[in-house]
Amino acid sequence: MTKKIVVFTGAGVSAESGLGTFRGSDGMWDRYRIEDVCTHEAWLNNPQLCVEFYNMRRREALAAQPNAAHYAIARLQEAFPDTQVITQNIDNLHERAGSHNVIHLHGEITKLRSETNQLATIDLDGWEQHYGDRHPDGSLLRPYVVFFGEDVPYFPLACEVASQADILIVVGTSLNVYPAASLLHYAPTHAKIIVIDPNKPELGIYTDRAFHLQYPASIGVPELVKKLIDTYLL
Ligand code: APR
Repeated sequence: MTKKIVVFTGAGVSAESGLGTFRGSDGMWDRYRIEDVCTHEAWLNNPQLCVEFYNMRRREALAAQPNAAHYAIARLQEAFPDTQVITQNIDNLHERAGSHNVIHLHGEITKLRSETNQLATIDLDGWEQHYGDRHPDGSLLRPYVVFFGEDVPYFPLACEVASQADILIVVGTSLNVYPAASLLHYAPTHAKIIVIDPNKPELGIYTDRAFHLQYPASIGVPELVKKLIDTYLL
């Protein structure tokens, strides 16, 4: 029987593509205050600053290239068609490496959304959102990013997917942000949990159960993918 594999990624999978992570030394949230750019109140108080902040993120994300970890995950999906990628990242590096049907829990930088309807999104050409532009529904357009405190619309779907995993691979997330971090709780008890991160994420009750490969994503993910293909397909 083919294995059902779920890959759950965070900022660390894109770190070697040059996109900074959020926590830790020189993380994004050291340089910017979450409450200035990534909450609903921030949007109400200073929407132009939010637009500028995400314009910069978009510019960086579009200039970045997928790395060996993104490509290995796409290869895994090709080898095991039941593989599902769930990411907290708003960049599109998984898709650009060839992954498809990626669930983006925290939004997508290449899209904008209606201020009044979280799922009414439009594609944006290029990096620059012009503040003041409107959605066809008449509302102001804002970055399609789930701000802190907002509903995470695809979380129930992600939980459903995780609940069917035989193997859950967690790459490059500190597991600090909820509800996303609680995805591990939805993996069935028989599922293998493999964590790839050069540091130790907040594994809590999974500390003993999870197998931690203490490597950067660009090394750990291709090695693991090769091992899974060798073990289950050859
Ligand atoms: N390879 C793999 N992991 C790495 C690498 C690397 N080369 N470099 C750093 N990491 C790890 C760090 O050790 C850390 O555990 O990536 C993780 C990044 O953690 P965070 O910065 O907290 O990012 P993430 O967990 O994705 O953040 C979750 O917080 O602000 C938000 O919405 C934002 O989606 C984001 C959410």
